[in-house]
Amino acid sequence: MKTNREIPVRQRNIVLIGFMGVGKTTIGQLVAKKLYRDFIDVDQEIEKKYNMTIPEMFQQKGEAFFRQAEKDYIVDLCEHTQLKIVSLGGGAFKQEEIKRSCLKHCTVLFLDLSWENWKQRLDILIENRPVLHNRTLDEMKELFEERREIYSLHNSRVETDHLEAEEVANYIVDTLKLGWDLYSK
Ligand code: S3P
Repeated sequence: MKTNREIPVRQRNIVLIGFMGVGKTTIGQLVAKKLYRDFIDVDQEIEKKYNMTIPEMFQQKGEAFFRQAEKDYIVDLCEHTQLKIVSLGGGAFKQEEIKRSCLKHCTVLFLDLSWENWKQRLDILIENRPVLHNRTLDEMKELFEERREIYSLHNSRVETDHLEAEEVANYIVDTLKLGWDLYSK
């Protein structure tokens, strides 16, 4: 497989990173549609592969098992595919190997939502997010801030506060096209 330097910028996978519940899947699907590309949600692929939901996997196999499955899937995807729109689980970038592989082979976009706005979504997202279980709001805020650090290496950051998913997707498509025009040979 070619390295990032060799993969033409237009052909690189577009990888969306960001905290749980910021809209990576919804926005990723919209971007894929607008660019006529396939969309891959890594968590959904892992669920299909092991025939269990992520909360079931955390409960029955443990977080370490999930993290290994996540790493194997993403590194393989980065090394062997192009032209996909990919949504990563919010904890994936904690793993150096994943981060390195994504930054080397893909274009990485960080979806950045403020804590204040994220908090409003907590009720709808907590049930399926085992990482949030048994944490106080203060502890979630700490995790939110720790995670912002791990997302700090990216190719582009998109502030999503007060924007509809469709607006974010349009912004991403425009930004990508500008980059492609500027940087493709
Ligand atoms: C996780 C985020 C989840 C999922 C798993 C762990 C995390 O993905 O991968 O529950 O550690 O932040 P989303 O970011 O899509 O919710």
